[in-house]
Amino acid sequence: MSSAGHTGSVITQFSTAALSLGMLITCGSAVAAPHSDEISGLGRALFFDTNLSINRNQSCASCHDPGQAFSDSRDNGVSGAVSLGDDGVSLGDRNTPGTTYAFLIPDFHKNDKDEYVGGYFLDGRAATMVDQAAAPFVNPLEMAMPDVAAVVDRVRENPAYVESFRKNYGESIFLDSDKAFRALTESIVAFERTALFAPFDSKYDRYLRGEYELTIEEELGRVLFFSQLINCSSCHLLDTREFSPGEIFSNHRYHNIGVPTNKQVRARNGVDVSHRDLGLLENPEVGDPGLAGKFRVPSLRNVAVTGPYMHNGVFQDLATAILFYNRFTLSNRKSQTNPETGELWGEPEVAETIDLELLREGQPMADNHIVALVAFLTALTDQRYESVLDQQSSP
Ligand code: HEC
Ligand code: HEC
Repeated sequence: MSSAGHTGSVITQFSTAALSLGMLITCGSAVAAPHSDEISGLGRALFFDTNLSINRNQSCASCHDPGQAFSDSRDNGVSGAVSLGDDGVSLGDRNTPGTTYAFLIPDFHKNDKDEYVGGYFLDGRAATMVDQAAAPFVNPLEMAMPDVAAVVDRVRENPAYVESFRKNYGESIFLDSDKAFRALTESIVAFERTALFAPFDSKYDRYLRGEYELTIEEELGRVLFFSQLINCSSCHLLDTREFSPGEIFSNHRYHNIGVPTNKQVRARNGVDVSHRDLGLLENPEVGDPGLAGKFRVPSLRNVAVTGPYMHNGVFQDLATAILFYNRFTLSNRKSQTNPETGELWGEPEVAETIDLELLREGQPMADNHIVALVAFLTALTDQRYESVLDQQSSP
């Protein structure tokens, strides 16, 4: 996997890479059938190509490291909470999510109860994955290209790309920059939809297939997680039935759980500490102030390798992210204290819309419950990242 970071070789190898990636997952709006392996191979090369950013320093993979479930593995001077831009200086304000299993997020829509569901970015502002893939190239804090035509010009510098674009999208594809850019984003998404992003081979998946026996701790965590007592299930399950294969551990809906401002990040990224990230309300499609501060419930697959946690990376440890929920169900000093700082949990970034009713439905968790939940969530790690866990636990 790590060799994929060496962009030079990837670019020349993309057609063979396509072969080794093998089958495409077909679900929902499946990618175009003809040449689809070749298109995802092209998308893979584009995903790793730093030439598509203004200073040729940054690719999608700079922030989405395939060695760490496509989250940002760098420290960036902020304990990994947010990512650095192509200029090596600019810092974002949101944590870079891992993108394994992300293609299973539905497009942004309202369900029959008039609730917002799905969409890409933590506020769903990119309705589809293809819309999402267009954004980083021209985001001044990310790849910082002036416009899509400039991105297409960079694509045209590479004869192998030109040949592949013409072959897969038509001889005249470069006559229209918007069309060529669209082809670029579609190719990247074809890559993001390959089996590489959703192997379903964690200990938990192997357990469901009868290939692995959960430890006592993992099993306790599993039972707690699915029980209505602890209540993770009201938000982190798509299918609330136990043992359902293909579960991605999110209902894809939007909630505010009262995450505190990340002051360390705000001290470094130039965003005023009093600024409030309004989550779903930052989405131009959404106007109801009652939805401020709600973020799409993240999938918990690979969560043990994609820290730090929450939309702003404010918690370093998985245990802290779980313990945090006790602040709503207990009032003693311990439950109100962030173990990472030894101080009270910070003020919620957006206090007035916290989903208190749902959060208070859960029973308080004892220390051994937290340990068990950490063990269970760690068992949601894809097999290829199990070695990353070993590195994390060794001093
Ligand atoms: C500078 C770091 C950076 C770069 C470069 C970058 N991303 Fe991201 N990515 C992020 C951050 C931060 C978010 C979350 C932003 C938000 O919610 O507003 C994100 C979100 C995403 C998501 C949505 C995940 C979800 O759960 O909604 C996908 C998919 C994604 N990026 C793919 C890509 C692709 C493809 C590229 C290259 C074209 C790319 N990213 C380039 C930082 C980066
Ligand atoms: C009311 C819905 C809700 C409930 C109940 C809930 N969660 Fe969450 N969870 C969320 C949302 C929303 C986020 C993202 C919040 C943010 O970034 O501001 C989140 C984030 C997380 C994260 C961090 C993931 C990441 O990648 O940053 C973990 C871990 C987590 N939840 C585990 C749990 C566990 C374990 C339980 C049960 C004890 C639980 N959650 C109960 C909605 C919920």
